[in-house]
Amino acid sequence: MVKGNFFISTAIDYTSGKPHIGHLYEKVCTDAIARWNRLRGNKVHFSTGVDTHGLKIQRNAEKKNKTPKKFVEELTKDFKKLCETYNITYDDFISTEDDRHKKIAQELFQKLYDNEQIYLSNYEGLYCVDCETYYMDKDLKDGKCKIHDKKCEKVKEQSYFFKLASYEKDLLEHLNQDFSVLPKKRKNEIINRIKEGLNDLSVSRRNVDWGIKVPFDDNHTIFVWIEALMNYISTLDGIKSKKFKDFWPGVHVIGKDIFWHHTVIWYSILKALKLPLPKTVLVHGFVNISGEKMSKSKGITIDPLVLNKKYGADGVRYFLLREMPFGDDGDFSENSLKNRINNELANDLGNLLSRTISMILKYFDGKAPNGKKDENIVNQLNETFKKSDKLMDNFEIDKTLAEVWSFINYCNKYVNDQKPWEKEKKEDIIYNLYESLKCISILLSPFIPETSEKIACQLGLKKCGSFKELKFDNVKAKVVKGEMLFHKLE
Ligand code: MSP
Repeated sequence: MVKGNFFISTAIDYTSGKPHIGHLYEKVCTDAIARWNRLRGNKVHFSTGVDTHGLKIQRNAEKKNKTPKKFVEELTKDFKKLCETYNITYDDFISTEDDRHKKIAQELFQKLYDNEQIYLSNYEGLYCVDCETYYMDKDLKDGKCKIHDKKCEKVKEQSYFFKLASYEKDLLEHLNQDFSVLPKKRKNEIINRIKEGLNDLSVSRRNVDWGIKVPFDDNHTIFVWIEALMNYISTLDGIKSKKFKDFWPGVHVIGKDIFWHHTVIWYSILKALKLPLPKTVLVHGFVNISGEKMSKSKGITIDPLVLNKKYGADGVRYFLLREMPFGDDGDFSENSLKNRINNELANDLGNLLSRTISMILKYFDGKAPNGKKDENIVNQLNETFKKSDKLMDNFEIDKTLAEVWSFINYCNKYVNDQKPWEKEKKEDIIYNLYESLKCISILLSPFIPETSEKIACQLGLKKCGSFKELKFDNVKAKVVKGEMLFHKLE
């Protein structure tokens, strides 16, 4: 269990179009990890935000007849709204248009130049505007980028270069450490790619205006990926700040398409700046839609705000966190979402709560009874917490939820086996159910926070507690018959 300060970030999303379910997935995973760490008693800095510069955004703004500034301001609001709608508890929302970021990105770029890590030369090669990434012929399929299936553009211009090739040994050394990249299979992938050899990286653009100026040459803007990565330092107020001392390094949560940038490029820049490398780059898979890769042009996309109206924040959060095997690709379909809501949220969890509350109302006039602890349940709870906490150390979110669910179903079996309604003395059984539900609400709060609060409220508690409260106590609460947690869907 990690103790102390904990910094975690999502990638910053391109404000080139509206947020989609892939963006949401990353935020929900990161939020769950951040919340779990807060419950542990850690001080957390959780950053998310938007990546507003570069050619793709400049062109999309032109297509809509808007200035890039106006275009990104509008989309930034959509990304903030997404966070609000899904209860994403970020501590900082950073935009690369923020002055604080521009200042820090320029300072860091200058430092790289002063450290003789950047030099002026000419670039000639291929560029995927959608990835905002340079590629070599060998990286492409029929001249097209493998991620976007689009032809790359030829770029020939004067450019500043970063001495990336000189970091091969440092990179491999760092990658050998245990937690550097998770899941482990990703690490092997990157090691093999590094061993194919590295080239110096073009880090400025002469013909892209929509960006941050190179501080020592007005004719160039900083390559969008370089300044975007620097957001992880801007969010901590720069390398001289107290926040940076307190929180750096942290965990970067990102998708599989950008882990080259977050390992090879970001690690080398940090090395060049003589800063510690991230604790972990945590790589998640892609959300596909009913078996197909998301694609706006083919209409294979899902608006998370529409989903929220139909299924609620927690229904969608639960589905994404439970269904996607963390680190691998997973599939989104409304049918599987409904099944999970009906079977797990409405039946397993919802019924356990409503049965317990009903019995307390019927047999004890609403006042939760005190009773004798059932050692089996207490042991089961302790075991569940121990395993879950270990799983969360490795960021295995779906497995953690499965673990908590086996405890929920243990409680369901307990009530079915014990049949308190048939017994003269009911308080021991009901006491154990009440306390179990209190602990379940705590364990579930990082994943389905609104539901956890509702459970706590029906149990007559002021709020859902932290891991310190994860134990069986003396009960004094008066329960409240509330609404059903989840309604069954057709
Ligand atoms: N702006 C860059 C990141 C810079 S971080 C210094 C970027 N933006 S993005 O909007 O294209 O993607 C943001 C995040 O969403 C990335 O981590 C990306 O992997 C993730 N996803 C984009 N599509 C996704 C899915 N279909 N499924 C899951 N996550 C996906 O890349």
